[in-house]
Amino acid sequence: MKLKIVLISIIITCLYSCSDDDYTATSKIEYEEGEEFLTGDLGVNSTSNNAFGFEISGLSFVEQAEFATGNSLFNQTWVSSPASTTGRDGLGPTFNARACATCHFKDGRGKAFVNGEDSSGFLMRISMPGQDSNGDALPVLGYGTQLQDRANNGIPFEAKVNVTYEVINGEYADGTSYQLQKPIYSFSQEAFGSLSGVLMSPRVAQQTIGLGLISALPDEEITKFVDEADSDNDGISGRANYVYNYDINERDLGKYGWKANAPTLKQQVAAALHGDMA
Ligand code: HEC
Repeated sequence: MKLKIVLISIIITCLYSCSDDDYTATSKIEYEEGEEFLTGDLGVNSTSNNAFGFEISGLSFVEQAEFATGNSLFNQTWVSSPASTTGRDGLGPTFNARACATCHFKDGRGKAFVNGEDSSGFLMRISMPGQDSNGDALPVLGYGTQLQDRANNGIPFEAKVNVTYEVINGEYADGTSYQLQKPIYSFSQEAFGSLSGVLMSPRVAQQTIGLGLISALPDEEITKFVDEADSDNDGISGRANYVYNYDINERDLGKYGWKANAPTLKQQVAAALHGDMA
């Protein structure tokens, strides 16, 4: 019976896609059944501006306390040391922002860089061509692998980022015209030597919702979608990224960041504390 339904739906799908000559990309974008309940019972129903900020349902008392501790660490503003507080000092000497939540505001994403503003919600990775023995980016002498455009009092910030836009005009297949803006980044006020010619990788902060669920997935749930050469012809190709896991001292499946270059939440968060705030 089940097989029959599958067969019928394959035939219907085939008939639909084969006969629809006026097919346009948008006409096919539809909800998948149950897509709005991706996390099943663990989801929280909220349309408030704090919708990304909830713990999953059903946590024990102890787990709720752990969530609250992590959340306060995420939202708190760090200060330079020495300070009267010893729990949240250690900001700088150079940094990008004083709190995780500055860039991931209400656990949401950052925005594109605006000239003259500090890089809140945006940061610039920099590197030299090549890789180190663990496959990680090669640091730029005097700067490391991330540009910090702010600093504690009396200390020079590393440099400022500037952006200009090149306008690209084009036309869709149906003749409608469009205009794109291509950002072109540059540096100024470099404090520790010229940055000309270094590789740049601008990154907007991602939303930080549901990441524990990603870490709960067995690796195979991710690697089963690997399709480097789009052999199934669905127009989507993808490969797994293997990166160095400093906890186990081995290469491991990358899961976090735009380029999946952190294998665990711990490593991603440690890199944020080190790279964005210190
Ligand atoms: C200066 C802005 C900035 C600050 C401050 C910052 N982040 Fe991020 N965060 C980013 C950017 C940009 C990315 C994407 C990084 C990449 O692609 O490599 C990111 C990615 C992440 C991710 C991975 C998200 C995903 O979907 O894979 C996590 C988790 C995260 N940050 C946690 C933190 C924590 C915890 C802190 C504080 C200790 C923090 N961030 C501070 C900008 C920031």
